[in-house]
Amino acid sequence: MTATRIALGHLNDIPRQGARIVQTPTGEIAIFRTLDDQIFALNNQCPHKGGPLAQGIVHGTQVTCPLHGWVINLDSGDAAAPDEGCVNRYTVDNESGMLYLSI
Ligand code: FES
Repeated sequence: MTATRIALGHLNDIPRQGARIVQTPTGEIAIFRTLDDQIFALNNQCPHKGGPLAQGIVHGTQVTCPLHGWVINLDSGDAAAPDEGCVNRYTVDNESGMLYLSI
């Protein structure tokens, strides 16, 4: 299957330690920006009970789910111990500040 590339706009459209949501054919994907301008993309569904991760708090390279406080690693999509679970992650290319999501 060929990857689909979706233009996300400019890095600065996403607040530091914030997120925005993109609707894709595979569902809602949350795009996160860390304090040091790294970008990560995960399905916008917590592996616990589907909480909206885009509304969580970004700290370091993790996000805390707004519903019950699970911590998800943005780089792997894995829940931090002691919780167990995983959410799909996607690649985002940063080309001179313009972001492109591959799904
Ligand atoms: S749904 Fe995310 S911690 Fe429960």
